[in-house]
Amino acid sequence: MLSALRKYLILPKLIRLSWSAPKNRTVAWDRYWAGIARTGARSDVLWDSGTDHELLAYRDVLRRHFDPSLPIVDVGCGHGAFSRALTAYSPRVLGVDVSPHAVARASGESAGVEGVSYLARDMTGPGAGAGLVGSTDANVFVRGVLHVLDAANQAALMENLRQLVGARGTVFLAETNFQGNPVEYVSHLGASLRSIPAPLELAIRKLPMPGHFGPEELARAMPKDRWTLVEDGAATIETNPLMDAAGNSRVPGYFAVLKAKDPDAGR
Ligand SMILES: C[S@@+](CC[C@H](N)C(=O)[O-])C[C@H]1O[C@@H](n2cnc3c(N)ncnc32)[C@H](O)[C@@H]1O
Repeated sequence: MLSALRKYLILPKLIRLSWSAPKNRTVAWDRYWAGIARTGARSDVLWDSGTDHELLAYRDVLRRHFDPSLPIVDVGCGHGAFSRALTAYSPRVLGVDVSPHAVARASGESAGVEGVSYLARDMTGPGAGAGLVGSTDANVFVRGVLHVLDAANQAALMENLRQLVGARGTVFLAETNFQGNPVEYVSHLGASLRSIPAPLELAIRKLPMPGHFGPEELARAMPKDRWTLVEDGAATIETNPLMDAAGNSRVPGYFAVLKAKDPDAGR
């Protein structure tokens, strides 16, 4: 019992570290990306495993549901690691992120990769899905974005995705769905009173504390009269191996595949 409570001794440190994180989420994300020096395994980025292992776990689902003739929009693409890998599933991939610094980094890291481009846009803004891929429907890939948005912005994002997918496109999402409070979450990722893995400490200092996103959150953000849930299940979100002290760089997650109902109503 006492040892279970020990982890809560970290709470004052967490509060102190997160004190200076900008309250405006857009500002927070752009400052975070502006300060990133390195990406890939053992870099600064908490959710970057540096491998395509996680995407490979989604391969069969993506092949089953993504029409390969449609472009893919990677929403909240960050530094573009998944956007680049998604060129295996479509000749045209567009990574979109609210942070211009993320987009600049993604573009730089994608030099020489054919079929991928990037754009800075807040995908929760009114009509943000419009004009991204011209008049065609698109498949949408979302990894690790909904769980960093509040409920109102999750709903706004999903409404924009309806515009993007139209009748032929499909949404695939994979999100962190850790069941526990913030102290349990950071403890899972290796934080203790003695030390905090560097990528985790950077995220705590600069970003709003994330939530989790599972079936309940999905039902709220994607009402049944607007979306058909085609497939869902458990996923494993792979983070930076620097979090692996206790084999915990893997976070329980949730994936879902969705089609829009009556998509023209969203256009
Ligand atoms: C946890 S990161 C995941 C990045 C990327 N999907 C990956 O898995 O490597 C969340 C990303 O969502 C972006 N983001 C947050 N809010 C957004 C919004 N409203 N519109 C577009 N992108 C957003 C952030 O800038 C950040 O790059």
